[in-house]
Amino acid sequence: MKKTIVLSLAIITMMGACKSGAKQAETAQAKVVCETTPTYESDIKGVIATYCTKCHGEKAKGGYNFLLLPDLKRAGKNGDLVGVIKWKRGYPKMPAHADKLDDKTIHLIECWVMGGMN
Ligand code: HEC
Repeated sequence: MKKTIVLSLAIITMMGACKSGAKQAETAQAKVVCETTPTYESDIKGVIATYCTKCHGEKAKGGYNFLLLPDLKRAGKNGDLVGVIKWKRGYPKMPAHADKLDDKTIHLIECWVMGGMN
């Protein structure tokens, strides 16, 4: 019984390792497939308010006030927005002093940028 548990754990661990390896390869190719086109009002505004505007509101850390849509679009256009949330090399990791956003949220923001930021 004990052996089975240990073996199962080992398999689960290996599966996890495989999965993250595949993900890294995907990131390297920068191949992003968007099933839907997110919109600012229904998908993005809330996420930014939850994770970002504490520092990127009036305080405008890093020169961005994300309460202003043009600022958010500027970061989207110049690559900063996707760079920081994906923790790409050369960008500060956002949200600062917190965990990376979950994959689904990152995907949502990336698809919003790719879809023309409407
Ligand atoms: C706890 C405060 C804090 C939070 C929360 C935060 N940021 Fe930042 N952010 C900063 C600071 C400070 C900088 C200044 C740059 C640095 O850290 O080197 C910055 C810089 C940036 C920049 C500019 C990067 C560059 O290359 O110049 C972007 C874009 C950015 N943040 C996006 C975000 C996004 C998107 C979120 C939410 C997912 C977020 N930040 C959450 C503090 C924060």
